[in-house]
Formats: sequence, C-alpha cells, structure tokens
Amino acid sequence: MLSNGIIQAAYVIAALLFIFSLRGLSNQESAKSGNIYGMIGMAIALIAAVASIKGGLHWIVIAMIIGATIGLYLAKKVEMTQMPELVALLHSFVGMAAVLVGLNSFLDPHIQEFHGGELTVHLVEIFIGVFIGAVTFSGSVVAFGKLNGRISSKPLSIPNKHYWNLAAIVVSTILMFVFVKCENGIGATISLFIMTIIAFVFGFHLVASIGGADMPVVISMLNSYSGWAAAAAGFMLGNDLLIVTGALVGSSGAILSYIMCKAMNRSFISVIAGGFGSDGSTASSSDEEQGEYREMQPAEVAQTLKEARSVIIVPGYGMAVAQAQGAVSNITEKLRAMDIEVRFGIHPVAGRLPGHMNVLLAEAKVPYDIVLEMDEINDDFPDTDVVWVIGANDTVNPAAEEDPNSPIAGMPVLEVWKAKTVVISKRSMNTGYAGVQNPLFFKENSYMLFGDAKDSVEKVLQNL
Ligand code: TAP
Repeated sequence: MLSNGIIQAAYVIAALLFIFSLRGLSNQESAKSGNIYGMIGMAIALIAAVASIKGGLHWIVIAMIIGATIGLYLAKKVEMTQMPELVALLHSFVGMAAVLVGLNSFLDPHIQEFHGGELTVHLVEIFIGVFIGAVTFSGSVVAFGKLNGRISSKPLSIPNKHYWNLAAIVVSTILMFVFVKCENGIGATISLFIMTIIAFVFGFHLVASIGGADMPVVISMLNSYSGWAAAAAGFMLGNDLLIVTGALVGSSGAILSYIMCKAMNRSFISVIAGGFGSDGSTASSSDEEQGEYREMQPAEVAQTLKEARSVIIVPGYGMAVAQAQGAVSNITEKLRAMDIEVRFGIHPVAGRLPGHMNVLLAEAKVPYDIVLEMDEINDDFPDTDVVWVIGANDTVNPAAEEDPNSPIAGMPVLEVWKAKTVVISKRSMNTGYAGVQNPLFFKENSYMLFGDAKDSVEKVLQNL
C-alpha cells in the first residue's frame, strides 16, 4: 500500500493529464497526443486507486481483468459507425455505478460516524448522486436502443409531458427533504427507494421523448450527466480525483451540448428539459407521396461532372457505412487534375458522431483546405454546377427550412438544392436517421444514383 501523500500526488498528476488531454483533443493535429495524455492519466489514476485499497484487492483485480478483457474486445470489434451507441452504453455504466455507490454509502455502517451538518451533507450527496446516476442510466439505455435501431427513433409523446417531468423533479425534491429528515430510519430508505424508481422513469422519458434527428445533442448531454454522476460518486466516496474528473467530463459535455444545440438551432434549456422540438410536430409532409424522381447511371454522372466547373461533395452516414472515403478521395484527385474545382460541404451532425466525416476524409488524405463547414459553404451552392450527395439524407433535407411541421423543422441544412444539378448516391428511396422523407429527391434538378456508395463512386471514376 502506498502512503496517502503519494496517492494524493498521483491524483493531482492524473487530474493535470486529463486537463492536457482535453486541451489536446480540441483540434485534429494534437488529438493523438491528447489521447495519450488521457491514457497515461487514467493508468496513474487506476494504479493509485487500487494501491489505496485496504483489503479485498483480489476482487478488484479479478473485476479489472474481466472489465479490461470486455473493453479490449469491444474496442477492437466496434465499427466507427457504432461508436455513439457504444458511448451511450458506457454512459449507462457510469450512471449505474453512481446509483450503486449511493446505495452502498447509505447502507454502509460507517454512516453512523457522521453527525449534524456533516451527516446532512453526506445524505444530500447520496440522494443527488443516486438521482443523477439513475437518470443517466435509463436515459443512456434508451439512447443506446434508439441509436442501434432496437427502439423506434420516433419521439414518445405523452400528453403534458413537460408537467410530468416537472412533477418528477418536484416530488424528488420533497423526497430529499424526507430522506434527510429521517436520517437513517425506515422513512429514509423508503424515500430513497421511491426516488430511485422516479429517476429511472424520468431518465427513460427524457430521452424517449426526443426524436431521432436530435439524438446527437442527447448523446453529448448524457455525456455531461455521466460526468456529474461520477463527480457525485466522488463526493460520496471522498475521492478528489473522481470529483475533478467528473466535473471535467460534466462541464466539457455541457459545452459540447451547447455547441451542438447551436449547430442544430435548438434551445439548450429545452434540450435539458427533454423532448424539445417535437411538440405537436408530425411527420405530415414526410410520409405523403412526393412525386416523381429521376435516375442517372454512373456514365451520365461522370459526363455531368466532366462538364462542371465547380463541384461540391456532401458526404453523410452512408459514405461511412460503405467505407467509400478512399474512392471519394481518388475521384477528387482525378477531378482536380481535370481543373475542376472540388470542395466538400460538411454538416455539423453528418454521420453518427461529431467530426465523423472530417476524420474519414482526413484518413483518406483529402486535403483539409477543401473540406469546409456548413456555414463556410452554404452561400456557394447557387453558383455551383454539380453537388454530389454521397450517403447523406437528413442533413440536406429542404423540409427543415420549408415545412414547419417537419420533425427536423428549424435545423440548419446544407442548401444543396440551390445548385444547378444535384446527384444523390444512396441505395434506395428510404429515409435517413430522423425517419423523414426528403423532398430533395423529387426536385427537378435532382438525380438519384442508386447503389452502394463505394461501388457507385468507383463506377463513376471508371467512366471519367
Ligand atoms: P442519414 O440522414 O442517416 O442518411 C444516411 C443515408 O445514407 C441513408 O438515407 C441511407 O439511404 C444511405 N446509406 C446507408 N448506407 C449506404 C451505403 N452503403 N451506400 C450508400 N448509401 C447508404 O445521414 P446524414 O445525412 O449524415 O445525417 C446524419 C443523421 O444522423 C442526422 O439525422 C443526425 O441528427 C443523426 N445523428 C448524428 C449524430 C452526430 S453527432 N453526427 C449522432 C447520432 C445521430 P439508403 O438506405 O437508401 O441507402
């Protein structure tokens, strides 16, 4: 066992490394070193935490071996496109851990050692820790289910849902007063138990009432919640490192949620309250017959591209699924060699996690300077000859601007339809992640190029 001084020093070093890690992750060039700082910090934190345990060490080692094996297996197996659901699942573990730590702290006989104000503070820590943990757990499980399609991405809409949410918070607050007042009597056990159930249901409802299109914000919000759950566990266990780390995750998750809300034109407060943007909206126009669509064959697409002076490629989730980024990079090189201006338009939530498209394109060696964010390129579509949408759908849906009843109404989109010709590569006329039909496919200047994105791009390349 290490001395307490050494353990505290190790905690400070780990906390500093976590801060460096976050700093590093803030841009692409330093992201790798950011990850390395984080890994070293976590290793130091784990060693120090294990070294501070007084007895029962073999159980911890067994649990760590099992956990590390599962973690390694999952990390190797998971596809980039499944990353958000894995993250959601991991958040649920943090939530459940906070619930268990809370219940354990309450049942721990050492609680008798707390008196007066100290006992009150400890009980409040337990109550809030269990609440946040339970909300994070059930919310993350629903998010996991929605992201991998096991739960419908349609928002659950029960009447007066905001009042139900409010009632859950008010009743839980009253129960907290009962819990603190009863200290460790039966009344406290019952109020903690009832609140835990309410918090599980509240977390479930909070995320279930959010529609598919708004899931990215939910993921970063749950990320933030999981940080606060970890910080709460840190308070209960008297572990400073857990408090600092939880606060770092909690606040960086909150900042990310805020940025994502701005990108999707959603209000931050209504996200936290749950079920935003879905009140009264229906998929009205989305399911209706939209008219005729036209098709192009790869040879025709190649011809259209050859005749263009300016081309914007808009990638989405389908490019990631098809692993088409290499082929896209090759065709970009070829078109540029033919003196055609090629740029990329990236929507902030294209794909299934922030920066998904940027990472894939960078990996395929597409030059950074032609990969532009939505705000940088949106005004250029009217002067563009050809837009090639590759496996994107919701992020180019004009209904967001034109149909106030659409579930994605108000979300900023890439205005691809303003270009002279739009070619859309996808496999079918199916909807995208948000489950809404896309009027873009039926516009007069739109042409569908059906097939797997990688095959389609390669065929067009052969025809160039
Ligand atoms: P989506 O709207 O999901 O559309 C992707 C399209 O790709 C689908 O319509 C699909 O049509 C097509 N596709 C799938 N596999 C393909 C393949 N192998 N080859 C060719 N096409 C294929 O994607 P998006 O435009 O990138 O929008 C992202 C959506 O995900 C948004 O709704 C966003 O809110 C949500 N989301 C984003 C995040 C973050 S943080 N970025 C996280 C979670 C959810 P077919 O089936 O017809 O081929």
